[in-house]
Amino acid sequence: MMSGKKWGVALWLVAAAAAILTCAVSRLITVGDNPGWTPNVNYTDWASHQHLYVGDWLLFRFDKRYYNVVEVNKTNYEQCNEREFITNITKGGRDVFQVTEARPYYFISRGGYCYNGMKVTINVEASPPAPAPAPANSSPSKTSAQVVLSIVSAIAVYIW
Ligand SMILES: *[C@@H]1O[C@H](CO)[C@@H](O)[C@H](O)[C@H]1NC(C)=O
Ligand SMILES: *[C@@H]1O[C@H](CO)[C@@H](O)[C@H](O)[C@H]1NC(C)=O
Ligand SMILES: *[C@@H]1O[C@H](CO)[C@@H](O)[C@H](O)[C@H]1NC(C)=O
Repeated sequence: MMSGKKWGVALWLVAAAAAILTCAVSRLITVGDNPGWTPNVNYTDWASHQHLYVGDWLLFRFDKRYYNVVEVNKTNYEQCNEREFITNITKGGRDVFQVTEARPYYFISRGGYCYNGMKVTINVEASPPAPAPAPANSSPSKTSAQVVLSIVSAIAVYIW
């Protein structure tokens, strides 16, 4: 039987491993790629080529003298209604936002720029497709999960 303390340590290790794994798979996606967050970019077109997953981060790069970014609901997105918003993401012009749910997210710039195309819908998916199985004769390379597990078991052996 493991003592209460050891269970605590075990739980901590599992949580740490989960945190490391989450970091390993979440990505930072620059909205709009090179032009960033600016008028006259077709973000519908941009978004149609993206796959965003729960846990990913969005990076909005923009000139904060003119533009900003807020999350709005669907109605206010469609109508470019900037009076109501859900989250103010604007800080310094290199601002990040983590998507935490599998659902559409709607972002606009206030200041009238929504009408100039500064609006984007991002459909967040639950999880990335499973990686293709490695060919049988390929050299063994560890996945990040295996690396984390071996670190965790090494620590566990040391503690026990
Ligand atoms: C933006 O791109 C989408 C998809 O490619 C297209 O259907 C739409 O007409 C474009 N919008 C504008 C304003 O060009
Ligand atoms: C969005 O919020 C507005 C109020 O700001 C509300 O009238 C509208 O019904 C909401 N739309 C959705 C899709 O929730
Ligand atoms: C959003 O936050 C920024 C930075 O704190 C602030 O300057 C701006 O006024 C805020 N916008 C709104 C609409 O609250």
